[in-house]
Amino acid sequence: MSSRAVFDHCILLLPMVASTPAPLPPGSFGLPVVGETLNFLFDREFAKKRQARYGAIFKTRLLGRPTVVLMGAEANQFVLSTNMDSFSWREGWPGTFKQLLGESLFLQEGEEHRRNRKLLMPAFHGPALVGYVETMQSLTERYAQKWAAQGQLTWFDEMKQLTFDIASTLLLGSEPGSQTTQMSEWFADLTNGLFAPPIHWGWTPFGKAVKARDQLLHHIEQVVKERQARPTQDALGLLVHSEDEEGNRLSLEELKAQALLMLFAGHETTTSMLTSLVMSLAQHPDVWEQARQEQAQLMETSDAVTLEQIRQMPYLDQIVKEVERLYPPVAGGFRGVVKDFEFNGYRVPKGWMALYRIDAAHRDRTIYTDPDRFDPDRFSPERAEHKRADFSLVGFGGGPRICLGLAFAQLEIKLVAAHLLRYYTWDLVPDQNLEMTPIPTLRPRSGLKVVFKKRAIAPTQVTADQTGQRQP
Ligand code: HEM
Repeated sequence: MSSRAVFDHCILLLPMVASTPAPLPPGSFGLPVVGETLNFLFDREFAKKRQARYGAIFKTRLLGRPTVVLMGAEANQFVLSTNMDSFSWREGWPGTFKQLLGESLFLQEGEEHRRNRKLLMPAFHGPALVGYVETMQSLTERYAQKWAAQGQLTWFDEMKQLTFDIASTLLLGSEPGSQTTQMSEWFADLTNGLFAPPIHWGWTPFGKAVKARDQLLHHIEQVVKERQARPTQDALGLLVHSEDEEGNRLSLEELKAQALLMLFAGHETTTSMLTSLVMSLAQHPDVWEQARQEQAQLMETSDAVTLEQIRQMPYLDQIVKEVERLYPPVAGGFRGVVKDFEFNGYRVPKGWMALYRIDAAHRDRTIYTDPDRFDPDRFSPERAEHKRADFSLVGFGGGPRICLGLAFAQLEIKLVAAHLLRYYTWDLVPDQNLEMTPIPTLRPRSGLKVVFKKRAIAPTQVTADQTGQRQP
C-alpha cells in the first residue's frame, strides 16, 4: 500500500477507533458476591500469579466489589501521583474504619486533607524530632535490659510493646508503665474490631472495639485539655498549638481522632519493620558486622545515639531501605475509583475498587538485580538501584499522601537498631517457622524467637582483623 493509501485508510478508521471504548482489564470476577476474596486472603501468591498471567493490571472481585489491581512502579506513580484525582482514600477503607477511627486523615480528601496534613506535619518532622530522641532512647534501653534479663523472647510481641510505649508516650503523653499497659489493652481491642463484622453487641469484637475506642478517646481528651492549659514538647503538645496561616487550630474532636489514627498507623508498621530488620541481621552475619563497625566508629564521639549521629549512618540507611524493599509492612493500598480512567490500554469505571501493590515493584527484576536476595549494597551510592525507576521503593507510599510518619518511623527504627547493634547481640532459636505472614502487618510466623544478651565486648574493641570484615 502506498503511503497516501495508508494515510487515507487511517483517516477512515479514526472515528471508529475514537468511539471504541478501551476494554476492561483482563482477569476474572470469580464466584458471585464473594468473588476471589478467599484466594486473596489465603493465597500469598494471589497477585503474583495473576500478574504473570495478565500483566500490570487485572480485574477481580474482592469483598463484594469489582476491583482492579495495579502492579509495578509505573502503576504506583499513576495511583499515587499523576492520576490521584481518580482515586478516593475514603472510599477505599471498610466501614468499620470510619466508625472506629472517626474523621481522621486516612478518610479525608481535598482541601480538608491538605489543611489537616499541614497542621499535623510539624509534630512529625524537623525540629520536633529532636525532642523525641531522649524518650525513644530511654525506652529502648529499658526494654533491652529487660530482654537481656529474660534471655529468650519472642521479639515481635516485645517490639510491639516497645513501639506502643514510644508512640503512646510521645503521641498521647502517657506515662510509661501501668498507664501504657492499660492503653495497649484498649488498643488491642480496637484493632481487633477494625476487620470484624460490624455487629455492635457488648461481647462481639466490634462491640468491644467501640468500648475501647471510647475509653481511649476519653483518655486523649483529658491529655489534650492538659496540653491546652500547659504546653509540652511531645507530639500532642505540638498538635494542640499547631496553627495554619489564618490562625486556625485543630478542634478538640479533630485532635482526638487524629491522635488515635497516629497511634494506629504508627506502631504495628514500625514493629513489623524492626522485627524484619533484626531477623535479617541475624541471618546475614557479614551485613551485621559491617553495621556494627559503623556504630563502633560513631561511638568514638558519643556512646548514646544522637540525632546528629543518626544522620551519619549510611550503611544502616542502606539496611533500612533493603528491609523496606524486601519486607514492606504494608503490602498495598486500597482506593475507591471516583472517576473512570485508562491504564495500559484498559478502562476502569467509576465505582470499582483499586488496589496498588507495594511489593510488586520491590521485586521487579527489571529494576532490582536478583530481587529476592537481601543485599543492602544495592542502595549504595554507586548502585542506587531504586533510582532506575520512580516509585520503585514505596514501602511508605508516595506522592502528596506519602506516609506522614515517615521521618518519625525512620528515626525510631534507626535509633533502636543502632542502640541494639552497639550493646547487644542475639541468635535465632533453631527450628522456628520464619515464613512471613502478611496480616495485619508482615511478620515471621514464629514471631521471631531469639536468645538475647548483652555484648561481652564493646563494638569499639572489635577490629577488622578479629572479624575478617571490611571497614565501612
Ligand atoms: C515503618 C513504619 C511505617 C510504615 C511502613 C508506614 C507505611 C505507610 C504507607 C504505605 C502509607 C500509604 C498508604 C496508602 O497509600 O494507601 C502510610 C500513610 C500514612 N502513615 Fe505511615 N507508615 C509507618 C509509620 C507511620 C507512623 C509512625 C505514623 C504516625 C506517627 C504514620 C502515619 C501515617 C499517616 C497519617 C498516613 C496517611 C497520610 C495521608 O493520607 O496524608 N505512619 N504509611
